[in-house]
Amino acid sequence: MRTLLVTGGAGFIGSHLIRHLLDHHPDYRVVNVDALTYAGNLMNLQDVQDDPRYTFEKADIADAPAIDAIFSRHQPEVVLHLAAESHVDRSILDPGAFVRTNVVGTVTLLRVAQKHWADKLSDKVFYHVSTDEVYGSLGAEGRFREDTPYDPHSPYSASKAASDHFVRAWHDTYGLPVLISNCSNNYGPYQFPEKLLPLVILNLREGKPLPVYGTGENVRDWLWVGDHCRAIDTILHGGRIGQTYNIGGDNEWRNIDLVRRVCQLFDELTGRPAGTGERSITFVTDRPGHDQRYAIDATKLQTELGWRPQTPFDAGLRETINWYLTNEAWVAAVRSGEYLRYYEEQYGSRLS
Ligand code: NAD
Ligand code: TYD
Repeated sequence: MRTLLVTGGAGFIGSHLIRHLLDHHPDYRVVNVDALTYAGNLMNLQDVQDDPRYTFEKADIADAPAIDAIFSRHQPEVVLHLAAESHVDRSILDPGAFVRTNVVGTVTLLRVAQKHWADKLSDKVFYHVSTDEVYGSLGAEGRFREDTPYDPHSPYSASKAASDHFVRAWHDTYGLPVLISNCSNNYGPYQFPEKLLPLVILNLREGKPLPVYGTGENVRDWLWVGDHCRAIDTILHGGRIGQTYNIGGDNEWRNIDLVRRVCQLFDELTGRPAGTGERSITFVTDRPGHDQRYAIDATKLQTELGWRPQTPFDAGLRETINWYLTNEAWVAAVRSGEYLRYYEEQYGSRLS
């Protein structure tokens, strides 16, 4: 058996990744280390919680003694590091939390891994999951390549950029075997409703305004979360140690077009008259420092390792909308307490 330690496994991408690993690798044990912040939710993993190959450890990645004890207990050979504060708007309200988890937490993990793996580094991997936002903002032309200079603008992207640099420093200075991937915007079930797509779907369900920042002309490159997990698996098993791989959906959308498309699919799936959803679109004050456009060039991953996105966008959007409409207990649990306070502060209106 090979033991993989996944950080942030109770979050959106982490929970999909754990399910993917257990499904595709019968000889893997997975230890999920998660602090269960507002974004962490063990309901995301209900279907695997009784699997004997799965263990949950509640811990903060910035807590060195706790992480050290977890390494001693489970002796992982692989770390898949996803734990992070992940929402740009929250990073504008509370940047300190992003420095603590994304920078200090990542360095803490690197130090503990280096200490525990020092005797034999050759069969270990520290895989850092990062974002395309570290590259900054594009104009109308061009796409991010692995050698695009870093140019982060938000406290979130700055903290992720810093963590990427520390991971590379541990490889170059201490010989830690690392892999890094930088991915575009993910979508799918279990995404916390502060993010654009679930926020729009849930507000559509309730007839609430759909807040589009600025003029809605910012562009994002959307990827089905399962395609991201398959890319991580592919890079973990075939990627060259020390290398970075960009992952993207080759699927650019202006926010306003995306929100309109979700409205159309929502009306169709719920049998409402066409055009009902779009009437709720409301343009609101722009996000400060809002990056204009992200687009990924994933040629390296495609040519070296043969990965390609597989899920057609409309099919993925339909599945996502249906999931949020049929998982009411999950929605009710996450849209409570802290989230209601955040929503009011961010949008100036109450959710309930
Ligand atoms: P998420 O916010 O849904 O989940 C983050 C998880 O990390 C939660 O379970 C939370 O409890 C946990 N966590 C936070 N702080 C912690 C701490 N100090 N110690 C232990 N656990 C902690 O995030 P996500 O969207 O699943 O993103 C996962 C990773 O992928 C992040 O590193 C993010 O930067 C990266 N990423 C996300 C996207 C995207 O579109 N969501 C795209 C590219 C890269
Ligand atoms: P988000 O899901 O927060 O991801 P990111 O900022 O990491 O790309 O936002 C996606 C895009 O949607 C981004 O350009 C900001 C915009 N947006 C809105 O227009 N309204 C909203 O309420 C939110 C949350 C985002």
